[in-house]
Amino acid sequence: MRTALVEPSVGALRLAGAILRSGGLVAFPTETVYGLGASALDAGAMAEVYAVKGRAADNPLIVHVGSISEAGALGRVSTVARALAERFWPGPLTLVLPRWRGEGTVAVRCPDHPVAQTLIALARRPLAAPSANLSGRPSPTLAEHVMAELGGEIPLILDGGPTGYGVESTVLDVTSTPLRILRPGGVSQELLAKEGFDVSVQPLRPDEMPRSPGQKYRHYAPSVPMVAVGPGAGGIETIRAWAEKIQEAGRRPGVIAIGEAAGPWPGSIFPDERAMAGGLFGAMRELEAKVDVILALMPPEEGIGRAIANRLEKASAGRIYPPGHPLPDIPRGEDRS
Ligand code: TXA
Ligand code: MG
Repeated sequence: MRTALVEPSVGALRLAGAILRSGGLVAFPTETVYGLGASALDAGAMAEVYAVKGRAADNPLIVHVGSISEAGALGRVSTVARALAERFWPGPLTLVLPRWRGEGTVAVRCPDHPVAQTLIALARRPLAAPSANLSGRPSPTLAEHVMAELGGEIPLILDGGPTGYGVESTVLDVTSTPLRILRPGGVSQELLAKEGFDVSVQPLRPDEMPRSPGQKYRHYAPSVPMVAVGPGAGGIETIRAWAEKIQEAGRRPGVIAIGEAAGPWPGSIFPDERAMAGGLFGAMRELEAKVDVILALMPPEEGIGRAIANRLEKASAGRIYPPGHPLPDIPRGEDRS
């Protein structure tokens, strides 16, 4: 299949709407990351999303809607869910609602991006859309990232330039009390609390069935191993010492951090957390092509920093060490299961 990568002109958006209505897939920008859209009313189209991504069958898709009333057609919008949607939609907050029919839940969000909103309107139906990457890989924050991974598999990618937040939406379970963050994202716990929403972030017990199945898989992972230094004083010095050791051992280090450069290594040094969120996945993709090991400095776990820390933890398969820790053994090949 030839994949067209086009600007979201009126004509391209109309074509995209028609493709979606006829059961095809379209990648499109949102304010978080690029999504791989399919009609949420078409089981065949959604099956195609799983096939193209190589996604596990037990990991459900987020449904994108244009309004609260469209969400209400899919799941039961409780009083608190309505209050959350009124405050944070359109925006990077996904609400897990009880389904009207049958057992179980449905995750819905209303994206804050003109292309995404126009597409939902032109398709005239809710759009199921996971991030437009192969399962396990970093999420795409540029149309080119989608092309590199899904080119040849889908007919159309709408190029809306770089996405804003760079990390995915916050997934909030509103079926439990207190509300529970299943995936930290663009809307922070602090912001929810400030607006009067009492939330908990309970880490999963090992025996607990993940409520957000996506959280149990290795994720967001570059093709070279990644190791992280936790927040706290002396972090960048630790990264520097590790990078020198890696270099001495004949491997090429790369660095992702906030603040000052760790040394002459390739990488991305961001001025603050917001910039790091925006550039994190792109930096992983850039570095995997030119280094053997990626070293990352974790931001403090507050605000958007929690979402970054969550993505780094998964990308590094949990290899996070405190500042001052000696360089750990780093595998050469990665278990990509
Ligand atoms: O920002 C985003 O949310 C992006 C853009 C494209 O909208 N989408 C996205 O989708 O990140 P995906 O499929 O990559 O991640 C969806 C997450 C997964 O962790 C999945 O397990 C969880 O949401 N999820 C989906 N439906 C759920 C449900 N009913 N209950 C709990 N978790 C759910
Ligand atoms: Mg994803």
